[in-house]
Amino acid sequence: MAEKEFKKRILCIGAGYVGGPTMAMIAQKCPQYEITIVDINAARIDAWQTDDLPIYEPGLLEVVKLVRGKNLFFSTDIDSNIKKADIIFVSVNTPTKTYGEGEGKAADLQFWEKTARSIMNASESDKIIIEKSTLPVRTAYAMERILNVNTKGIHFDILSNPEFLAEGSAIKDLENPDRVLIGSRETASGIKARNEVVDIYANWIPRNKILTSNLWSAELSKLVANAFLAQRISSINSISALCEKTEANISEVSNAIGTDSRIGNKFLNASVGFGGSCFKKDILNLVYICESYGLHEVARYWESVVKINSYQEKRFVKNMITLMFNTVSGKNVALFGFAFKANTGDTRESPAIYVARHLINEHAKLTITDPKAIGNAKEELKPYLKEDISSVQFTENPYEAAKDAHAIAILTEWNEYRDLDYKKIFELMEKPAFIFDGRDILDHEKLFKIGFNVSAIGKPLMKHF
Ligand code: UDX
Ligand code: ADP
Repeated sequence: MAEKEFKKRILCIGAGYVGGPTMAMIAQKCPQYEITIVDINAARIDAWQTDDLPIYEPGLLEVVKLVRGKNLFFSTDIDSNIKKADIIFVSVNTPTKTYGEGEGKAADLQFWEKTARSIMNASESDKIIIEKSTLPVRTAYAMERILNVNTKGIHFDILSNPEFLAEGSAIKDLENPDRVLIGSRETASGIKARNEVVDIYANWIPRNKILTSNLWSAELSKLVANAFLAQRISSINSISALCEKTEANISEVSNAIGTDSRIGNKFLNASVGFGGSCFKKDILNLVYICESYGLHEVARYWESVVKINSYQEKRFVKNMITLMFNTVSGKNVALFGFAFKANTGDTRESPAIYVARHLINEHAKLTITDPKAIGNAKEELKPYLKEDISSVQFTENPYEAAKDAHAIAILTEWNEYRDLDYKKIFELMEKPAFIFDGRDILDHEKLFKIGFNVSAIGKPLMKHF
């Protein structure tokens, strides 16, 4: 039968942002393996089998089309696929807990634990289990205890292989990662399992980029990588506040410090704040872990990264209101962008959510435009839409959004916002017209000459009155 043709059977539990693209890439690079992705969400599994994939990622559909039905399969039959698999990647969601002990900080491991129990119950042979989801350090220890108490004489090796891909560049990141990290127990069995996973990635990634480590280092490194990235943004954002007081210019400061090769020039763009499903969640998780070990000073240090981020969001809206003569009540405000960053429709933890809610509470009338995120924006603002349907409108056309607006706030760094006809936009707007550039992507001099009052993150204020 066709089943015998494959060298190995790989299963991925969880068909989300991480599992879907990662398995599609492995399938493309390793035609010798059969790869199946399962999920409890049948609608998601159905969508993966159409050309309207459940997530938007540039280049993803092309990869999926190459391998779907050949060596990449989708299914809701979790148990029989567990039974067949040699290697199981687990990439279920691990959101922040919204109840009980650790509420608002700790990772909610219920999905992960349910998966572990399904694996234990359905398995009939030894397997390698790989944590792909981001998890608190030492989660693998709990998994080992759950899985290896089975009475069937089956042995499970638990590995950690965190995923570092970013949304919007997932395919590029998977094809050419800075590194792949695989952690295991440093026992003979653990190292053998780790080498099997190294062999998968070695099909397309140079060996010197495949790092191996102990289990705990791999788990912790994922949280720390995200914490360091977020820390850079909070650091530059904190300095943007100082720039606005001193006529220093944050882009010039970023450039000046970023050219020091010890500092490096990436992730130094000041903004209205970082968003996305990972940074805040992972830092709070790190904070919770530190606290649980009694490392309170360390916890406070990392917590401050999140605090500066919400300070930046608040500062941005407060500045808008102050400049618009201390009231936005009844005024039309156009929000350009709602996604947490460009090239994605994802709005999770987007700074636009805070900005929109705050402006609505101040009785502003919002028109939100975004090339990909309007559907999600409607979901995020659902409670507000019910209260007063007329206070928020949506359009894909930025010119329409700007019509009769008193102000525009740039909240996502979409490329298309750089090249709009701002002269035309100015003419469409109420006067005095304001632009608040929360991403520092526009030509501020040019806008000022057109007649706008321009307030950009970390830049000297330009106003005509
Ligand atoms: C992040 C990590 O980059 C990735 O390695 C990890 O696997 C998941 O979390 P992602 O959330 O997709 O990826 O987005 P990222 O590109 O890191 O951006 C996060 C947020 O920071 C966005 O809101 C972005 O706009 C903001 N950002 C980024 C800045 O404000 N300034 C910068 O200089 C860079
Ligand atoms: P990530 O960004 O980490 O990939 P997502 O939320 O996009 O997270 O995807 C996680 C997926 O895991 C979801 O599609 C969810 O339905 C799925 N999932 C959660 N629990 C289970 C489970 N016990 N078995 C199978 N799939 C699960």
